[in-house]
Amino acid sequence: MCGIVGYVGAKPAAPILVDGLARLEYRGYDSAGVAVLGPSEIRLHRDAVRVRELEASLPKRFAGKTGIGHTRWATHGVPSQRNAHPQLSADGRVAVVHNGIIDNASQLRAELAADGVELTSDTDTEVLAHLIARAHTSDTTTLEQAVLATLDRIEGTYGLAVLDRAHPDRIVVARNGSPIILGIGDREMHVASDTAALVRYTKQVVHLDDGELATLKADGYQTFTRDARTTKTAVTVDWDTSDYGSDGHAHFMHKEIAEQPDSVRRVLKGRLDERFHTVRLGGLEMDARELREFRRVKILGCGSAYYAGQAGAQFIEEVARIPADAEPASEFRYRNPVIEKDTLYVAVSQSGETYDTLVAVQELKRKGGRVIGLVNAVGSSIARECDGGVYLHAGPEVAVASTKALTNMLVGFALLGLHLGRIRDVSPADGRRLITALQALPEQIERILADEDHLAAVAKDLAQAPSLFFVGRTRGFPVAREGAQKLKEISYRHAEAYQTSELKHGPLALVGPELPTVAIVPDDELLERNLGALQEITARSGPLVVVTHDGVDLGVVPAHVIAVPKSEPELDPLLLTIPLQLLAYHAALTLGHDVDKPRNLAKSVTVE
Ligand code: F6R
Repeated sequence: MCGIVGYVGAKPAAPILVDGLARLEYRGYDSAGVAVLGPSEIRLHRDAVRVRELEASLPKRFAGKTGIGHTRWATHGVPSQRNAHPQLSADGRVAVVHNGIIDNASQLRAELAADGVELTSDTDTEVLAHLIARAHTSDTTTLEQAVLATLDRIEGTYGLAVLDRAHPDRIVVARNGSPIILGIGDREMHVASDTAALVRYTKQVVHLDDGELATLKADGYQTFTRDARTTKTAVTVDWDTSDYGSDGHAHFMHKEIAEQPDSVRRVLKGRLDERFHTVRLGGLEMDARELREFRRVKILGCGSAYYAGQAGAQFIEEVARIPADAEPASEFRYRNPVIEKDTLYVAVSQSGETYDTLVAVQELKRKGGRVIGLVNAVGSSIARECDGGVYLHAGPEVAVASTKALTNMLVGFALLGLHLGRIRDVSPADGRRLITALQALPEQIERILADEDHLAAVAKDLAQAPSLFFVGRTRGFPVAREGAQKLKEISYRHAEAYQTSELKHGPLALVGPELPTVAIVPDDELLERNLGALQEITARSGPLVVVTHDGVDLGVVPAHVIAVPKSEPELDPLLLTIPLQLLAYHAALTLGHDVDKPRNLAKSVTVE
């Protein structure tokens, strides 16, 4: 949700900025821009184009060794050149890039206009540039003072970077609600909203906290708050530049789907205890006695992470016999929920930066709730805010549509559920049964991926339908929701998920030859019930695609059958989800869409 980069050092800044933006483009791609400090002026190049086009159109003379850049996901103002960042102050002295939303922007715009400032964009960010320039009330005002004075007038969220013609040796950055990560180079400093833009230059990074600012110069950095200097410890990032390459795949989404056997191996690595048929989760930072005291589990996440949470809640309740449920973090934080001391709250997030989830965690902590994280991005805001947790080790996920991270979330919940179960009533035999099933997953996923040609053919067929149903019940329902979500996101087809059992309470009215249904039919204790629903759909001439297990006699002849390997019933949802990723991918390809960067969306939603 907007990507920010900055560089100060001895090298030409523009190529480094553009390279960083290309790696952050998944955060927004409505426009892109860079600004560098020339000998006597700020040079600006920005447009409503993708980063590669921006790079190709960079003016020949665009030299400067200090600069900032931005890739935008539009909030205030349509995607256009004038609304692209960086935004400049009226006198051309200050340039700002910003991720977040300034809530009182219209009031500040009105004040500036009344004061004779000509506003040249529709963005909230522009006010920051004007205010910072105007806060230089004397020759001795520092850029840091001007930024602090401006932030005092701002309500809202920001991760921002500021360039000032009068202070060419530095960039000043600030964070409140949107990530800012400093990269410590060799006699150079970098800044970005995600380590993706930094790992090519350095592995040593510093995460700013909310309320913190930093001055970056070629020879180092200083962090501070309104009141004092702060001391930060750099952490080492273990993701590599190669992790951000597409590795010969046509799209990142395809690469990330293909990586799942390995990413599942990574999340399991070192965590299965075959001697005691249990799980080791060192990062939880809670011992068995503390964990046994929890009477409920409440999972919070957004979008696909929320659907993973629904599946996770079912696993935990079924295996550990603790009442568990999931709720969208975005709703939870607004309904003034009762926070219970004996509830274990779990925040789940790939990016670790989703604003709604982060604020839900902060709200929980404010009220004394115990919250752990299931997070992919190491050192991210949510990971740092939680009391402990389970890292998902899926590696960087670049495609907007989540695949491997979601799969690792499901594994993460299985690990958590098994751990909670084995310190309660789950028997060693049940522990062994689930551990064996977890160990089998990577190879089973490989078998599903080998069916890609068949899945591509099914997808081609489905892509013709303007509207589809996805149905499943109990364990199959989160699978159906995630299948519909993936298809919607990248193929722009209307897809709705229902509990199969709910069909006859309304949605069945829509079933007919024009509306295909993708039915999730695991070979489990609800098989007979699910088969009954297939009959009902067939009786209304509804085309069917059935995602099921090998050897199931469906009793009808669907248009397509997709069979996946059988796991233990509690883990079936994970394998049933994998073919739906490839269905969505190939449907989007068939329709000629930008698979990795679907319209209107961005990865890492760091605004409300
Ligand atoms: C769907 C998707 C989104 C994210 C959601 C939460 O494919 O990617 O629905 O799952 O925005 O993001 P994270 O997991 O980063 O908190």
